[in-house]
Amino acid sequence: MKSTLRIILGVALALGASLALAAKPVVIKFSFVTTLDTPKGKAAQAFKAYVEKASGGEMKVELYPSSQLYKDNQEGINALIFNNIQLLVPSATKLKGYNPAFQFVDLPYLFKDNDHFKRFTESDAAKKLLQSLDKAGLVGLGFWPNGFKHFTANKPLRRPADFKGLKFRTQTSGVLEAQMKALGATAVPLAFSEVYQALAQGVVDGQENTLSNIYTQRYYEVQKYLSLTRHGRLDYVVITNKIFLNSLTPEQKKIFMDGIAYANQVAFKEAVGLNQGALEKLRQRMEVVELSDEDRAAMEAAMQPVYDEYAPKIGWDLINAIKALR
Ligand code: LMR
Repeated sequence: MKSTLRIILGVALALGASLALAAKPVVIKFSFVTTLDTPKGKAAQAFKAYVEKASGGEMKVELYPSSQLYKDNQEGINALIFNNIQLLVPSATKLKGYNPAFQFVDLPYLFKDNDHFKRFTESDAAKKLLQSLDKAGLVGLGFWPNGFKHFTANKPLRRPADFKGLKFRTQTSGVLEAQMKALGATAVPLAFSEVYQALAQGVVDGQENTLSNIYTQRYYEVQKYLSLTRHGRLDYVVITNKIFLNSLTPEQKKIFMDGIAYANQVAFKEAVGLNQGALEKLRQRMEVVELSDEDRAAMEAAMQPVYDEYAPKIGWDLINAIKALR
């Protein structure tokens, strides 16, 4: 009798344990460096809401904004490759180690406007770039926008001569290094999470970023002037890894992909408004320097040597395909 009871108890415990295992949600850790109030942060929240609702809680999305888990440099990319996180949305240039063509985004004055960038993201050239991540165990899921970059400093910057001898924080990128050199300045590559301190302590004199990043990182507390140079872009690649994607059931994979597609729409819908809204708020906190057509032409002409050096490395095919979408 005793042994029958023991068997029943054993079976019940095993059943309970396997039920608990089956009920364990799929956890998607999504790490990023910006705040939640940015184009990337809004799209991330949309993804979370979609996936958790569509899966009835079977899939859970954990958001880690503001570099709290990883920086999105190689540290973050390695964490993704080893499946310690399941989603990363780094700026495109941060993937240059896998394909130098991802530096296209840094080329000065390549994109005409936000719609031009959107047309590129829907093109075959963009799909080919995403596929090139395959060999690293990564899966490129799409591009999300942020927007055009502008410079800040403690002096007004209008023309190339204004940059002479200054140090600017940039992302780690040969193109951006060449860009600053072409302006007579020096690029200082730093992680996004280190920029505020570097500006506050005078390690660098200025920086370049989108209006929403400048506002949400509060650079206006340590920089006096915002020059509306609109000289290049900062946009993202949405990436996951193969280990994670292959671990999903077909139903879960569909929800994941639909969530990415939905977040993609949200990113494009939010980016323009968030950057415009940031400019309005920055106008109350900084001196905003508007460039004349002549100023803009002088800046563009000064940055042309960047193409001589980097267009062959990035590939004229890609650059011309982007130019054809203007
Ligand atoms: C930067 O490093 O400036 C950007 O990549 C930050 C971001 O993700 O928008």
